[in-house]
Amino acid sequence: MSGTSTTATVRFASRLLDAGPHTAQHTVLPLTSDEHVVALRRLVREVALSLKLSLVDQTKLVTAASELARNTIKYGGGGEAHVVELDDGFRRGVLLVFADDGPGIADVDLALTDGYTTGGGLGLGLSGARRLVDEFDIDTRAGEGTAVAIAKWKR
Ligand SMILES: Nc1ncnc2c1ncn2[C@@H]1O[C@H](COP(=O)(O)OP(=O)(O)OP(=O)(O)O)[C@@H](O)[C@H]1O
Ligand SMILES: [Mg+2]
Repeated sequence: MSGTSTTATVRFASRLLDAGPHTAQHTVLPLTSDEHVVALRRLVREVALSLKLSLVDQTKLVTAASELARNTIKYGGGGEAHVVELDDGFRRGVLLVFADDGPGIADVDLALTDGYTTGGGLGLGLSGARRLVDEFDIDTRAGEGTAVAIAKWKR
């Protein structure tokens, strides 16, 4: 964990971050505006390129990151994105954690149902993101916030 985070959610998300293998690089970006989503997309694309992910996998990761970043802003009231390069000695990958101090998700299974939305969206962001990555985890607490972690490995 970097020492820059102050949100309660990132503290409970630390299990998602610390559970990973040795991390090579850890960057934290703010998420409150569309410009931040653009910056995140750019960084995720760069990291995916440096890992030599296929073009399809690069696009899957950037798409999942966009969806989760937009949820952090829209439903979480803003937060931050952690971009963590992973290297366990055998394989390399990237872990992304989206953390906010918003209202939390009352029913995670429901939120992961295709078509479920409380904000007039398509209800495909969370469920779609899960299908696009290798690992997916949600830690959410009512009234405290939400952290969504995704990871993709170089294959
Ligand atoms: N960070 C979050 N904090 C609180 N609730 C969230 C968060 N992320 C998602 N949710 C809840 O989960 C629901 C489903 O999210 P999902 O991204 O799948 O759909 P959506 O954002 O409503 O529509 P879209 O298809 O446009 O993404 C949201 O409508 C919202 O109720
Ligand atoms: Mg969404």
